[in-house]
Amino acid sequence: MVEIELKPEEFDLFRRYIYEQVGISLSAQKTTLIKGRLNKRLNQLNLGSFREYYDYLISDESGEELSLFVSAISTNVTSFFREGAQWKWLEGYLPQIIASKREKKIRIWSAGCSSGEEPYTILMFLQHHLSDFESWDIKILATDISHKVLTKAIAGEYEAKQVESLSKEIVARSFEKARTNEGTYYRIVPRLREKVMFRLYNLVTDPFFFKNSFDMVFCRNVMIYFDDPTRHELIGRFTTVLPKGAPLFLGSSESLTSHRDTLKLLGSSIYQRL
Ligand SMILES: C[S@@+](CC[C@H](N)C(=O)[O-])C[C@H]1O[C@@H](n2cnc3c(N)ncnc32)[C@H](O)[C@@H]1O
Repeated sequence: MVEIELKPEEFDLFRRYIYEQVGISLSAQKTTLIKGRLNKRLNQLNLGSFREYYDYLISDESGEELSLFVSAISTNVTSFFREGAQWKWLEGYLPQIIASKREKKIRIWSAGCSSGEEPYTILMFLQHHLSDFESWDIKILATDISHKVLTKAIAGEYEAKQVESLSKEIVARSFEKARTNEGTYYRIVPRLREKVMFRLYNLVTDPFFFKNSFDMVFCRNVMIYFDDPTRHELIGRFTTVLPKGAPLFLGSSESLTSHRDTLKLLGSSIYQRL
């Protein structure tokens, strides 16, 4: 593989473009990371410089290259039942949601859903805690900027080690076991998969077209790369789709320094719409 240099003026082009398109602010220390992670891609595309790659990136109207770029410089790390304390909290909060419902209808948004573990966990959780789960109309909107992770999420197929921390009961109810030449994997059962609508959606630049509200919004471990103004704007948008009392879940390392008049911290990076 040919090692291609990333010049400071080229880095600057990427820095500006990525901030405008995705809200991620890349500091100069990220030069080595970008160079290292994207050299393979430049070689694949047969490009001789990062300037050529920049032109390729900005002219790709499908957004696929941008999504590849974002996947290369950020993390898609996720897992089933991540942030255990939040699921514990939700156990206590669920009866309140149920009691407030006139219709048996639940709508939840998993924003930045990565390869699907988060939206599927929501369903596994509800299935476990609602004795009449099947009689509820439940829909999860699951969005991400990355094509690659969404393809995996839609397939809903996971390796054995990804499900090993789940209880036998949850595994038996939520997955079907499949064997291939590469080994055994676990596929989310169709009746759960069909409750999730996966969509490609950029939280920073795509129009905010949501008219209906959600009973909860999860946006966990997504805003870590965003700067304060971008975070502020996005949180403001979430408040418009959360009815009074509804929770917003952030990642455990994330906290809000703004929107104190509309969101109250309940603990474990869970905020309640006031
Ligand atoms: C670390 S994963 C978190 C997944 C899951 N929410 C969790 O906590 O396990 C962050 C995800 O956010 C997505 N992401 C980053 N910037 C985004 C943006 N501007 N719009 C939508 N998704 C974005 C990434 O593609 C990635 O899949």
